Amino acid sequence: MTPAPHAAPGRAAHETRLAGRFDAFHAARSRSSITADLYAQALGEDYPEQVGACGSCDWALLGLLVTRLRIRPRQVLVDAGCGTGGIGLWLARALDTDLVGLDLSPVAVHQATARAPHFGLTQPRVSFTAASLEDTGLPDRHAHAVVCLDAAGFAADPAAALRELARVLAPGGRLALTRATRRTADPAWAQEAHAAGLMLEHVDERPHEPAMWDRLYGLWNAHRAELEHELGQEQAASMLAEAHRRRPTMPDRRAVLLTLHRPPDPPGPPHVPATIREGLETPERNRT
Ligand SMILES: C[S@@+](CC[C@H](N)C(=O)[O-])C[C@H]1O[C@@H](n2cnc3c(N)ncnc32)[C@H](O)[C@@H]1O
Repeated sequence: MTPAPHAAPGRAAHETRLAGRFDAFHAARSRSSITADLYAQALGEDYPEQVGACGSCDWALLGLLVTRLRIRPRQVLVDAGCGTGGIGLWLARALDTDLVGLDLSPVAVHQATARAPHFGLTQPRVSFTAASLEDTGLPDRHAHAVVCLDAAGFAADPAAALRELARVLAPGGRLALTRATRRTADPAWAQEAHAAGLMLEHVDERPHEPAMWDRLYGLWNAHRAELEHELGQEQAASMLAEAHRRRPTMPDRRAVLLTLHRPPDPPGPPHVPATIREGLETPERNRT
């Protein structure tokens, strides 16, 4: 994907690298079932097969999202960093919402688009687009709920990503995002939310998440030869390097789902989008 023209140079380079890395990952996954098979083994009965997530999504997380988002039929759900789209598609089907998915990886966006009919969902109620968390290209107040799952940690500027997701959230709407920290840390989630104009509403612990990753990384190591054969040396090496780097940190990992609430507008004149306001304010004689 070509980064947005006004992206800072450092961010643009970061996003180009990430998009390439995730393009390769999603393309390799689609050529073989081995990655999904190993996720399914690592999650056991907690694995929502049709979702086919490439992160830590289990039935418990889907249940939490349904509970926390409080989105109504026909409202708009945004899945930011959607990967191949399964989580947003599952939620949109379950809750009868419209869905906009966005991801840096054009390969992921292509696969997500192709999967929508398997969930009984079609355009225009569902669309996927290549965009970054920091620059979604969506209008202000577009979404009644936003999910950002196992993606925010990749953003070059996480605070900018949070501000952007808050911008596209309608007043009264909610953003649910996964976060992880060290068990001993004292994270400033409430302050971070506040800086983006949001309120921290819930912190749901996900106590089984680190053990799931530990099992998955163990399976990747145990199936090294198959991964190399099925996905190619380069992709297998990248996954095994991730396992090597991250597995030792799992005992000290604390994983949560944060629900952030955008406060409703205070009572007053209704919000009029800037484009319409300008039109209304233009004197009659100046209109063409
Ligand atoms: C681990 S996958 C998770 C995908 C999906 N949310 C899930 O849980 O299955 C992370 C995804 O985030 C996307 N991503 C990473 N950084 C991003 C950014 N700055 N903007 C948009 N998408 C990003 C990647 O391309 C990748 O598809």
